[in-house]
This record gives sequence, structure tokens and C-alpha cells, in this order.
Amino acid sequence: MKGVAVVGLGYVGLTLAVTLARKGFTVFGSDRDPRVVATLAAGRPHLFEPGVEDGLREFLGERLRVAATLPREPVDAVVLCVSTPISPESRQPELENLREAARAVGEACPPGTLVVVRSTVPVGASRRVVLPELVARWGRARLAFAPERTIQGQALRELEELPQVIGGLDTESRDAAAALFRRVTPRIVPVSSLEAAELVKLINNCHTDLIYSFGNEVALLAERLGLDPLELIRAANVDYPRPDLSKPGFVGGGCLSKDPYILLNSSTSTGNRPWLVGQARGLNEYLPIHVARRFLEMLRDTRGTLEGGQVLLLGFAYKGWPPTDDMRGAPVLQMLDLFRGEPLTLLGHDYLVSPEVLRGLGVRPTTPEEGFAGSDGVLVITDHPEYAKLDLPRLLASLRRPALLYDCWRILDEPVVRAAGQVRYAGIGYG
Ligand SMILES: NC(=O)c1ccc[n+]([C@@H]2O[C@H](COP(=O)([O-])OP(=O)(O)OC[C@H]3O[C@@H](n4cnc5c(N)ncnc54)[C@H](O)[C@@H]3O)[C@@H](O)[C@H]2O)c1
Repeated sequence: MKGVAVVGLGYVGLTLAVTLARKGFTVFGSDRDPRVVATLAAGRPHLFEPGVEDGLREFLGERLRVAATLPREPVDAVVLCVSTPISPESRQPELENLREAARAVGEACPPGTLVVVRSTVPVGASRRVVLPELVARWGRARLAFAPERTIQGQALRELEELPQVIGGLDTESRDAAAALFRRVTPRIVPVSSLEAAELVKLINNCHTDLIYSFGNEVALLAERLGLDPLELIRAANVDYPRPDLSKPGFVGGGCLSKDPYILLNSSTSTGNRPWLVGQARGLNEYLPIHVARRFLEMLRDTRGTLEGGQVLLLGFAYKGWPPTDDMRGAPVLQMLDLFRGEPLTLLGHDYLVSPEVLRGLGVRPTTPEEGFAGSDGVLVITDHPEYAKLDLPRLLASLRRPALLYDCWRILDEPVVRAAGQVRYAGIGYG
């Protein structure tokens, strides 16, 4: 197997394309967004992911080509990495991108080309949506599902390290996809069907959502009881030989904010209503609103009024670690819906999200140093490790007094904050 086409060059497709090129394949990446193609063709990644820029420098124009359409020359396999969003209104999965990509493959590639679906889909979508488009043009198809399970920010490393789950339409399809991914990662986990592989992806992500939601459940309870959620969780975990509790925190991103709805869709279409998945998602989606409300309440309480106040928001990406520029499902988006209605000046900073994006959200971009100076409240939204390294005593000294420092992930040195005088310290469920 030598030539592989990758359709959709976002976080999933681009990282896979670079990895396949690194493993010796000739890779034909395509994307229907002209800006994506033009940026990549100029050797610049259109998203932040460590190692991708180096990969483009090394392989672009040689083993890695990018274009708006599939290549004319035959390839051994096509991997579909297109976006599969959910409708913002109905939260139902939208599979038109996948259908269009499958149709384009059927039209451009010779019959028998292996097609691997990598986008996250409702159970049964590879068979219901992709297969008919191929069969209509080819008569029969070789089709597999191989979920992407890497973490953004460390995708290139995890692509080569994580076991690859693979399900096929038949044994021939599964074996062909396994042969492809065996060149990428040492461990292949074959499962019995397309549907099994589709569901593995969904249960992995829903489980993560669920585990994190319990930390948030504990935080909301602790807040009401006047207890410190981190003290409780740490104490509960000490040498206890049962699953650890997770820290409270925001659970966003392109996958976790969407995949539970895809699982719900897969489940309700069979008449089964899951007990936990929707509840966990609901709690995780409520958390940013809760924090924003608490922050405003505490700020009002601290200053007597919100009028004329200045607030610094740190961390606009959906997470701080591993660092990313991705704002899909970012907690700040829900928070801003509340903050923008208040008589506050909003300053903001992120290490990877561009100042233009912040401006577009109605926030004045700044540095952490300039932002602390003269602010009444600081909300540290992500756990980007650089925030923990700031010169805290100097920054605290530049705040207006009295001030509020709400440190969502509790990454700052609380005793230092308390020692600064007239600065109230709080975190999720704490203070
Ligand atoms: N981001 C992640 O870490 C991650 C992890 C696991 C799975 N996934 C899943 O993988 C899929 C892709 O995710 P992503 O984060 O890369 O999305 P993305 O939005 O970053 O990229 C998707 C790309 O596909 C392109 N595209 C859409 N329809 C197309 C078509 N018909 N033909 C050609 N290109 C098309 C878009 O222009 C876009 O550039 C989604 O199903 C997602 O749920 C994402």
C-alpha cells in the first residue's frame, strides 16, 4: 500500500496526513474549504497542533500534496475525516458532509478502493450513509471504520502510540484497513463490525464526559455545603484502590460537546433512552454558566457594584492542557453571553487563540501583565501551564482593590493570593 487520500484536512485529517507521510505513504489530502487548501499549500497550518508545521515543511509537495479535490491517480485507500457536526438547534447529527465525501470518492476513485471512515458518526452511519454512495457507483465496496481517539495537542504522538480500533464491512475490508494502520501504530484492535467500531468511539468519549461530570457534581455540592471540593477529592483518592475522582473543570472541545448527542441519537433511534449520558452532558454544559454567575455575584459583592468594573478573562481555547487554539465548546463562549450584558470592560488573553478572534467576541485583547493592571476581577478559565508561571505577587499588586481572583482550575498559589491583601480567591465550587 503506497498512496492514500485523506478527505477533510481539519485536526483529524491533517494530523493523519502528516503521520502517513512520515510513515512513507504518498498522501493526497483534500478539503472543500478553499482557505484551508490555500493556507496548507503555502506550507502554513491553519490550526495549532504541535509537529504539523514541521511535517508540512518536510513533506509538502513531495510525499504530501493538498488540493480541493481527490487525486486523478488511483490510491490504495481513502480515509474520510470530514466534519460531522450536530445541529445547534436540534442537536441531531448532520451527515451531509460525509454523504458528499462518499459520493465524491465513488465518482473519483476506481471500484475496490478501500474506504475508511474516521469521522465520528452515529452507529450505523457508515453502512447507511457511506456504503450506498459507493455501491451505487461501484457495485460492491471495501469499507471500514477506524475511529480517531487522540487528544488535541498531542495528536501526532498518540496517532503512533494509541491502539487503533477497526471494524469492517467484512473481513477483507477490516484486514485491509488493519494493514494500513499497522504502518502507523503497533497495536490494532479488530472488532466484529462497522457498528462496533463506531460505538467504541462514542462510548470512549461519553465515558470521559461522565467521569469529568462527577467531579463537577462534587464541586456544586461542596459549594452549597461550604466545603472545599479539591480537599474532598484529594482525600477520597489517597491510596484508595477504586477509580479516582476527577477534579472539577470545564468539559468542552469539538468532540465531548458533540459526541454524547451522537450517542443519544444512536440510542433513542433504537427506543433506548440512556440514563446517564444526557445528564452528564447537561451538567458539564451548565458549569460555565454557573461559574459566570458566581463570578458576577462575587464581583458585585466585592465592589458593591458591577458598574465601571474591569474584568480580565484568561484562556479562550476550550482547554489549557494540552494547549490548543480550538474554541469549539469553549466555556468562555457561554460565559460571554452573560458578561456582555453587564456594565463591565472585558479584557481577554489566550496564548494560542488570536487577538482578532477575541475582538470578534467583543473582548479587548491584552497580555496577562497589562490585563491585571487596574482590573477588579480576574477569571482564569483554562489551566494553560503558562498561567501558573506568571509573576503572581507583581500582578496582584497591580489589581484595583478590593479585587476578585476566580481561578477555575486552582492552578495559582492560593496563599500568595491571600497574602496580597484585599483580593478574594475562589475556584469552581470553592470560596
Ligand atoms: N478534533 C478531534 O480531536 C477529533 C477527534 C476524534 C474524532 N473527531 C471527528 O473527526 C471528524 C473531523 O474532526 P475535525 O476536528 O478534524 O474537524 P474540522 O472541522 O477541524 O475539519 C473537518 C474538515 O473537513 C472539511 N470537509 C467537510 N466536508 C467535506 C467534504 N465533503 N469534502 C472535503 N472536505 C470536507 C472541512 O472543510 C474541514 O476542513 C469529526 O467527525 C470529528 O467528530 C475529531
